Amino acid sequence: MPNWTTVCAVEDIPVLGSRRVTRDKGAAVAIFRNTENQVFALLDRCPHKGGPLSQGIVFGTSVSCPLHNFVIGLDDGRAKEPDEGCTPKFALQVVDGKVQLDADELATLGTELALPVAGPCASKGAVGGGQVYDVQTPHTA
Ligand code: FES
Repeated sequence: MPNWTTVCAVEDIPVLGSRRVTRDKGAAVAIFRNTENQVFALLDRCPHKGGPLSQGIVFGTSVSCPLHNFVIGLDDGRAKEPDEGCTPKFALQVVDGKVQLDADELATLGTELALPVAGPCASKGAVGGGQVYDVQTPHTA
């Protein structure tokens, strides 16, 4: 059973943009919002060569990686053909406009994977710019 924890409000995420939830271990979790106000959560790490998906271009239910343009499904983390690979997807729910993630997944999912090769996750303490903002400390509801 998920251990839901609130990380931000839907309104905190720019439409067609993202926010990042940093973790004590492993790459951050990128939370995306599309024009339909659907919200998705993926590991902020492209399955190709570790690009920062939080800095990609969101369209429909996909994001294109900023490094080599792999298109990744926001709903399943899978690269669209002809490309291959998959990045971990995080369980997410929206309750009263608040985005909630499973605290257990936040602590463990994808923590064994190498950090992204570029972007705010690549070096410890770096801060993203443009449409990317960090949620430094997830807070509980
Ligand atoms: S690292 Fe994402 S497409 Fe190459």
